[in-house]
Amino acid sequence: MRGDTGSMNTPDSPLRWGILSTGRIAGTFARGVRGSKSGRVVAVGSRNAEGAARFAAEHAIEPAHAHGNYEDLLADPEVEAVYIATPHPMHVEWAVKAARAGKHVLCEKPAGMNHAEGVAIVEAARRASVLFMEAFMYRCHPQTAKVVELVRSGAIGRVKLIQAAFGFRSDYRPDSRLWNKALGGGGILDVGCYPVSFARLIAGAATGAPFADPLEVAGAGELHPESGADLYAAATLLFPGGVSAQVATAVGVGLDNTARVFGTEGWLEIPHPWIVLKRGGADVIRLHRQGAERPEIFEVEGPDVYSLEADAFAAALRSGARAVPAMSPEDTLGNLAALDRWRRAIGLRYPADDATAG
Ligand SMILES: NC(=O)c1ccc[n+]([C@@H]2O[C@H](COP(=O)([O-])OP(=O)(O)OC[C@H]3O[C@@H](n4cnc5c(N)ncnc54)[C@H](OP(=O)(O)O)[C@@H]3O)[C@@H](O)[C@H]2O)c1
Repeated sequence: MRGDTGSMNTPDSPLRWGILSTGRIAGTFARGVRGSKSGRVVAVGSRNAEGAARFAAEHAIEPAHAHGNYEDLLADPEVEAVYIATPHPMHVEWAVKAARAGKHVLCEKPAGMNHAEGVAIVEAARRASVLFMEAFMYRCHPQTAKVVELVRSGAIGRVKLIQAAFGFRSDYRPDSRLWNKALGGGGILDVGCYPVSFARLIAGAATGAPFADPLEVAGAGELHPESGADLYAAATLLFPGGVSAQVATAVGVGLDNTARVFGTEGWLEIPHPWIVLKRGGADVIRLHRQGAERPEIFEVEGPDVYSLEADAFAAALRSGARAVPAMSPEDTLGNLAALDRWRRAIGLRYPADDATAG
């Protein structure tokens, strides 16, 4: 199946999004697109017609483009790009099908349950000549670009240690996607993917590369006694060039959700590295130079981070690129490989690992 995309596009044409599923982040992204400079949501697909109709009414989508199954969304000629926001285990199926239908793909993190699923998505996008990006929205924010710039400029000397955490405490519910392994439950895949992606970004910046992959990954953590999902986990990563990272995640313990980068001449403190400026506004990066009494403060401003993500995707697409510089397919594969190693270190496996012998 290969869908035509209705109208002719110019570099300035708004990007016509179709949203696949109607959960929490799907609504957040739809609002992000509304606030973007480059796109509009023209269609939605849900597993049922009522869900699609409700979402369409909330987000001003024409009823004719509210689809009661995902296949019809992928066959909708009005849709140019599909945003996939199902639980993680369904990402691979719908990302591959969307690419085969000729749609550009923005897929929620983690793009796949493991590296092998990531390869399947990246290959499908490459074969269909469509743009694919894993939706690490914080990568599209000017705050992240500023951190990279400070690291590259040598503001903290040679980078030695990166610390980053993303975790929260939710009550155990066996049927919730945060805890149920059939729905991809557990911290590493849900939010641990952020600190790993940050560590890889900064370890890359330290050597002038877009990202770096760890030579070694050691991990510790605790699996929930009933569901087997990781309720918290920590990892130490060793990168080329003598850069180390300590990362932590949880769905059962609240963490501080900050990031720090320590170098030979000082350190950077990023109080809100992930859902930064979710709804726009100002935030800060603190640069503590060695020996200075007070930190230098860099204010960062920006609109909703999901609007920035939609704009970064559209800008890459309209420029003819098949990768978004903020999060390339190669970066996705490196991240998934690092997550595989972290999971292996704590004995955390999913059915998808058996399917792909990962
Ligand atoms: N980037 C971010 O800031 C961010 C934030 C939160 C979550 N996420 C990612 O986005 C994805 C979705 O998270 P969410 O919090 O939005 O989840 P959610 O609220 O549970 O929504 C998931 C949606 O997926 C669809 N779905 C398809 N198969 C399903 C199944 N077997 N069970 C349950 N739902 C199913 C449902 O939509 P229909 O019924 O309409 O088909 C459901 O509403 C996850 O991969 C997560 O990692 C990203």
